[in-house]
Amino acid sequence: LMSEMRETVKQRFNTVGSRRRFWESLLDGPVPEMVFGGQDDAAKRAIQAAIDTDDDKSFTQGEVYLVGAGSGDPDLLTFKALRLMQKADVVLYDRLVSPAVLDLVRRDAERIYVGKKRDYHAVRQEEISANLVSLAQAGKVVVRLKGGDPFIFGRGGEEIATLADHNIPFQVVPGITAASGCACYAGIPLTHRDYAQSVMFVTGQLKDGSLNLNWDALVQPQQTVVIYMGLMGLSVLCSKLMEQGMSADMPIALVERGTMPEQRVLTGSLSTLPAIVAGETMHAPTLIIIGEVVALHDQLAWYEGESNSV
Ligand SMILES: C[S@@+](CC[C@H](N)C(=O)[O-])C[C@H]1O[C@@H](n2cnc3c(N)ncnc32)[C@H](O)[C@@H]1O
Repeated sequence: LMSEMRETVKQRFNTVGSRRRFWESLLDGPVPEMVFGGQDDAAKRAIQAAIDTDDDKSFTQGEVYLVGAGSGDPDLLTFKALRLMQKADVVLYDRLVSPAVLDLVRRDAERIYVGKKRDYHAVRQEEISANLVSLAQAGKVVVRLKGGDPFIFGRGGEEIATLADHNIPFQVVPGITAASGCACYAGIPLTHRDYAQSVMFVTGQLKDGSLNLNWDALVQPQQTVVIYMGLMGLSVLCSKLMEQGMSADMPIALVERGTMPEQRVLTGSLSTLPAIVAGETMHAPTLIIIGEVVALHDQLAWYEGESNSV
């Protein structure tokens, strides 16, 4: 790719010094990531744009990396996530990104909080997307850090759709989603030859006090169900599952701040957990796991964090 462009660069810059500065500046920018990420066409366009620009200081075009930050423990970041966090000029991050993860962002990168709270979007989705576009257009290396995996209940699809509409090069980096992180750190295998052959990820957000879920699909045997954003609707969820025929004794766990030092795991059954949780002060984020596999927690729990499991 580089040799293909070499001639054009030679014609555009007539001194060795200016050519050297061109390539150095280009290699500091997003082009190497594009090549690593198999985006040869985007890399060619970025090089061409750099050649075409009149301003020798703005050789590089920005790029946006939509990066999954995992479920909390910084050791669960991927190498790619860490590498890009170290390279970023600007990082836009959510409330779910743990402080320990944020500590690993390049020291002099600009950090912009765009966190969302339930029922209240600190910065509206359109604003975040517009911000990503203008930062990339200004030539910045932009990391959009999102809790867990950007494509699991993370609105990642919407953010990159805006980038695609504006022809901004982007890449998406998967992260350890809450279901994986919480289940592993709670000692609850999501599938198990004896107890569960399938697993379902569901959002449990209440709408007008009720839950609009496909109940038939949820009460299937030999299945684990993981509910994101379900704490507020826990009682409704448990009653409805029992009404739909799931056993009142079905094991269920609530994992609070999974994979973080403060992780707590509350376990019970569909008929007992809501009362157990009501007696506790809970801290977000929390994840619900339902299924026979939850019973294995007593035997397989291994992570103690800094506080005791209940
Ligand atoms: C908007 S969703 C984002 C999910 C994220 N994209 C992922 O893949 O994990 C937020 C929900 O994820 C769950 N969650 C995320 N991190 C968690 C953690 N460390 N412990 C427990 N639940 C977590 C909670 O149910 C929380 O309400």
